[in-house]
Amino acid sequence: MKVRIDPERCQGHGRCYELAPGLFTEDDEGYGLVAGEGVVPPGEERTARLAVANCPERAIEII
Ligand code: F3S
Repeated sequence: MKVRIDPERCQGHGRCYELAPGLFTEDDEGYGLVAGEGVVPPGEERTARLAVANCPERAIEII
């Protein structure tokens, strides 16, 4: 499982990196970035889905 953020949709709400700091980080302006290659480690799948469900812009995708 991997996560990605659509930069066209992200408005910098920050829920992703607050709820799942192991999976997401932020750029200098507060927009979300995937940490590393976006690979979701074993046991973090629920957290990934939580982030997807909490992004108001639906910018996060699980692939
Ligand atoms: Fe952006 Fe959604 Fe995260 S708007 S900062 S991807 S919660």
